[in-house]
Amino acid sequence: MTILIQGGEVVTDSERYHADILCEGETIARIGQHLTAPAGAEIIDARGCHVFPGFIDPHVHIHLPFMGTHAKDTYESASRAAVLGGTTTLIEMCCPARDDDPVEAFEVWMSKAVGHSICDFSFHMGVTRFDETTPAALTSIVRRGISSFKVFLAYKGAFGVDDAELYRTLQLAKSLGVIVTAHCENETLVSERSRELLAAGKCDPAHHHESRPPQVEAEGVNHLMTFAELTGCATYIVHLSCAEALERALAARKRGVRVTIETLIQYLVLDKQDAERGGFEGAKFVMSPPLRDVRNQEVLWRALAAGDIDTVATDHAPFDFATQKSMGASDFTKIPNGIPSLQERVSLLYTHGVLPGRITLHDLVRIASTTVAQTFGLYPRKGAIAVGSDADLVIFDPAARSTISAATHAMNVDYSAFEGWERCGCARDVLVRGTRVVRDGTCTDRVGLVGHVGHGQFIARTPSHF
Ligand code: URP
Ligand code: ZN
Ligand code: ZN
Repeated sequence: MTILIQGGEVVTDSERYHADILCEGETIARIGQHLTAPAGAEIIDARGCHVFPGFIDPHVHIHLPFMGTHAKDTYESASRAAVLGGTTTLIEMCCPARDDDPVEAFEVWMSKAVGHSICDFSFHMGVTRFDETTPAALTSIVRRGISSFKVFLAYKGAFGVDDAELYRTLQLAKSLGVIVTAHCENETLVSERSRELLAAGKCDPAHHHESRPPQVEAEGVNHLMTFAELTGCATYIVHLSCAEALERALAARKRGVRVTIETLIQYLVLDKQDAERGGFEGAKFVMSPPLRDVRNQEVLWRALAAGDIDTVATDHAPFDFATQKSMGASDFTKIPNGIPSLQERVSLLYTHGVLPGRITLHDLVRIASTTVAQTFGLYPRKGAIAVGSDADLVIFDPAARSTISAATHAMNVDYSAFEGWERCGCARDVLVRGTRVVRDGTCTDRVGLVGHVGHGQFIARTPSHF
């Protein structure tokens, strides 16, 4: 298929210019002024629009057995939401239970995705146990195209690893050139504080954040940084939420620890008062680390603009309010953690970041696409607009306006944390490897979805973090 995108403003992490883009097959063939359309080419009129490299979400959960239930999306529903929101590649967490065989788990996660996705995808391989069989198993998974691991310092007894396991995972990763992504919270503090709160009758969602205050996350970050320093392993802190944790991560970076930092769109636009809403409404906003005091939002935005925080993800983890969040009606520790947002990341970054001047358009591309690609071995195939790169492109209409609602979103979940919010800008047309998957999209419902399930491919990655 040949597609000519005419008259748009190309925006990358460092450049901004008007040009036409010719896509032939799966890649970008030419970029230039007034390109002539080859016979039979499809033409997309991009005048008045930005043309961005496809956005990449580095932290997504789709198949997620967690807290006694399963996250609601399938690859079909999640990838539909992704492309409608401008995300053309996602990296899912493969999260085996502690007793699961890692290779078998990897096969399960692959089987859920291959042939079922509209967008491209890869996985961070969760390391939830480390014994004498683990190095061979993980090495074989790396050979199959996985170049990042995931560890949880929280969720002891489920996904969490102990310190010996953490140390060995980082040593192995360093030797393989793999980067280790980590959920940083001190699990002992979480369980002690949860026990105290429940014993005091503080059982509703509003108390969840008290069980894991900023110090708990800062301690987790510091813990990981100590292990990273001693092993020399490249690390990536997922879902950093607050000033205290950021301070520890930046102090470590300053002394040479190899660390990349991710925050989430939720922490940038929601705050702990949302989780304190009465009548169990707050359960919609329960995630870990929790939503923080609103003062943290500006700290995070400034750190993004300054390049101190590197990426913005969603940690998309959809659990229905009516039937799943309700499992914690009398005990906040039983509320499945997560706030679905895969579809909303780019437009919320644009509306609340770019338009008020907190970040630039280049920052948007950098934190939601290019740096993700560079960190996780996808660049320059992804995250770039360049001849030879995959034709993953988002034609973004900055004049579009829409209202976010669970009634019209494409995610398979019965609520939206952003219900009724006005949103500016929209991924009007989206290409994944040269195939148009959204045509005249409006950011709402499934309007414009033309991509086929199965078009999305597993993207093999090669380790580079030696
Ligand atoms: O609350 C969260 N973050 N849910 C998803 C699982 C995780 O910790 O990433
Ligand atoms: Zn996590
Ligand atoms: Zn997660």
